[in-house]
Amino acid sequence: METLSTPARVFATTVADRRACAPGVVVLSLSAPELGSVTRPGQYVMAIPPGGERAGTALGIYEAGDGGISLLFFVTGSRTAALAGLRPGDALDLLGPLGNGFDLSGDPRDVGIVAGGVGIASVLLPAIALRRAGARVRLYYGARSAAHLVEAERFAGEGCELLLATDDGSAGHRGYVTELIARDDAPGLLLACGPSPMLRAVGRLAEERGLRAQLSLEETFACGVGGCWGCVVPVVRESAQAPSFPPASAGGSDVVNARICKEGPVFWAHELRW
Ligand SMILES: Cc1cc2nc3c(=O)[nH]c(=O)nc-3n(C[C@H](O)[C@H](O)[C@H](O)COP(=O)(O)OP(=O)(O)OC[C@H]3O[C@@H](n4cnc5c(N)ncnc54)[C@H](O)[C@@H]3O)c2cc1C
Ligand code: FES
Repeated sequence: METLSTPARVFATTVADRRACAPGVVVLSLSAPELGSVTRPGQYVMAIPPGGERAGTALGIYEAGDGGISLLFFVTGSRTAALAGLRPGDALDLLGPLGNGFDLSGDPRDVGIVAGGVGIASVLLPAIALRRAGARVRLYYGARSAAHLVEAERFAGEGCELLLATDDGSAGHRGYVTELIARDDAPGLLLACGPSPMLRAVGRLAEERGLRAQLSLEETFACGVGGCWGCVVPVVRESAQAPSFPPASAGGSDVVNARICKEGPVFWAHELRW
């Protein structure tokens, strides 16, 4: 994959708006014009929770523009709870934009975006970029129940076709979101973000049907900047994302470890050996 990272630094931002899009799900809009202008689809930030005594938490960049960015997050633990307590006017430091985002080169015309759970936060920017380039975009969106399918209308407003799945059948197809792709005419390219079992299923489906697929991997990051090697995933050595350090052993394996936070989080499915 072409390297799609941009230089990262700490941005001192201010909360411009806060809204709850569902119980326990918050969208924070942050004034950070410079960050908004350099962000690429699929990149993320490390948000440093108020007080600074806890480690940063990785959050996908949901929206980006001239005025700044927004973050969409589910309150799952102490750090996201602290972020949910922020109000307009409060300060928040962000390290970013981080990671290699989605590769949208080649002018793809028919794209399937696959999102599960919190993965929805990382796929609005590629959806907007593709729609503005005139591509057909189908959003395959899966969650536990209708209440957990957040912001689907935001994607519809951008001209994406919605295909919904829930575990309990309260909205759309009852079952896995990947079952919806399997029974559809295949998009030429799949972009996916969500829990690992969903990503593995997308990777298998792509292989079976000869589709190209990019997967944005979910992992718990410690440093988030490539320093601790605590987030590795095996990739083929010939991948453009294979790191040059540490050097591979002479005559060794054709698989090397890449850091999800640094070389990823987005990888071509066919280059992963996980
Ligand atoms: C690149 C990247 C982008 C992300 N973007 C978003 C985003 O845009 N919005 C969002 O809501 N979350 C996102 N996440 C997940 C988020 O970083 C974690 O959920 C984070 O641990 C929350 O911190 P916490 O202290 O609130 O909860 P914690 O106390 O760390 O965790 C609470 C619960 O969530 C589970 N958990 C922790 N990390 C993950 C994970 N990565 N995936 C699934 N479950 C997890 C834990 O097992 C635990 O049960 C992203 C993660 C990565 C790696
Ligand atoms: S979290 Fe430290 S290298 Fe990725």
